[in-house]
Amino acid sequence: MATTATTQTRPRGGEPGRGYGETWAKAILMGEHSVVYGYPAVAVPLKTLKMRAWASSTGRSGRNTLRALGYYGPMLQAPAQFGGLMRAIQVAKDFAGCCECGFDIITRSDFPAGRGLGSSAAASGAVIRAVLDACGIKAGAAQLAALTNEAETVTHGHPSGLDTVTTSGQHPVLFTHGDMRRVSVNTPAYLVIADSGVAGSTKEAVDGVRGQYEHDRLRVAPILKDLGALAQQSAEDLKQGGLDSLGLRMDAAHRLLSELHVSHPIVDALVRAARSRGALGAKLTGGGLGGCIIALAPDVLSAQRIRHALLAAGAPSAWVHPLNQLDVEVANDASVEFDRIPERYDCAGPLPSAGACFVAGTDADADAIDAAFRG
Ligand code: PMV
Repeated sequence: MATTATTQTRPRGGEPGRGYGETWAKAILMGEHSVVYGYPAVAVPLKTLKMRAWASSTGRSGRNTLRALGYYGPMLQAPAQFGGLMRAIQVAKDFAGCCECGFDIITRSDFPAGRGLGSSAAASGAVIRAVLDACGIKAGAAQLAALTNEAETVTHGHPSGLDTVTTSGQHPVLFTHGDMRRVSVNTPAYLVIADSGVAGSTKEAVDGVRGQYEHDRLRVAPILKDLGALAQQSAEDLKQGGLDSLGLRMDAAHRLLSELHVSHPIVDALVRAARSRGALGAKLTGGGLGGCIIALAPDVLSAQRIRHALLAAGAPSAWVHPLNQLDVEVANDASVEFDRIPERYDCAGPLPSAGACFVAGTDADADAIDAAFRG
C-alpha cells in the first residue's frame, strides 16, 4: 500500500487503517542566501538520515493525537510550532477524502529540527505519506510535493520547493529560478554533517542579509553574485569529479557567508576543526546563525576521521553521508553497518528548549514507540 513514487519500506504493520511514510534530511551544498536573490543553489538529499511517520486511523470523529518532537497530546492543543504539521495532516485527509477521520500520528527523526536539514518539509512529507497510506490512497510524486508545499507555506511563508523536493528525492539537484535539474555525482565523495548545537533562525538570517543588501548594496550584491557562481561551478565539479576544486569552493563560500554575518563562532570552530582533520573544504549549510556545517571528504575513512574530530570539537551529533548514488544504495542497505546513526530525535519527553530532543536510538525506543502507537 505504498503511496509514493519513491520506494517505501514499511518497517512494521501493514494493517488497514495504519499507514507509514518516510522521507529524509537534506543539506544545501552551495548557494544558500544567494538563492533568495535568484542565483543557483545545489541541494543534496541525505537519505541516510530518515524521517519516519506512522498514522493510525481512529475512525470518523475519532481521537486525534500527535506525538512529535517532544509533544505528545491532542492535535488541537499542539503548540504553534506544529502548525505546518497540522496543515500536512489536514491536506492529506482532504486529498484522501476522509476529512472527518481521526488519526494518531507519530513522527520519529534521525536528525534534529531547526538546524537547516529540512526537518519541517521532511516531517510534513512523511506524515502526508503515512495518512494517505492509512487511507489506502496512492499519490504521484508531483501531488505529494504539492501537498507538502501547502504545509511548508504555513511554516515558511513562501517556500521555494527545494526542501520538499530534496527531502523525498533521490539525487542532488541544481535549483535555478524554480527549475530543478538532477546533478550527477561521478566520483566517490562523502559529506560529513555536524550539528553546532545552536538553533539558528533562517528567517532572522534571511532578514539580516536583506537589511545589509538594502543598506549596503555595493558591498553585498557582489558577494551574492559570487556565491551564485560558486554554486553553479560546484554542480560542474560534482559531474566532473573535481573534489579538490569543490572543496576550495566550499571554503570560499564559507568566507563569503561569514562576510554576510550569517555564521556563528561555534560554526566557525567546527569548520576549522574539519579542515584541520583533512576535509577538502567545509562550510555552514542552510540559513546559518548556528545550525549545521558540512565538510567534504574523498573517502569513507577520512570522512570518519573528520566526523570524530567534529564530535571531539563539541558537535553534539555528526553524520557521514555518501554523495555518490551507488554509495548511498550501499549505506541504505540494512545488511551493511555504515556509521550507524547514534541518536534519534523524536517524541519522548517535554518540549526541549533548543528545538530538538534526542533519546538513545535503540531498538527499545522503536518498540516503545510502536507500543504507544498500537496502544
Ligand atoms: O535553513 P534552511 O535549510 O531552511 O535553508 C535556508 C536557505 C536560505 O537560502 C537561507 C533561505 C531560502 O529560502 O532559500
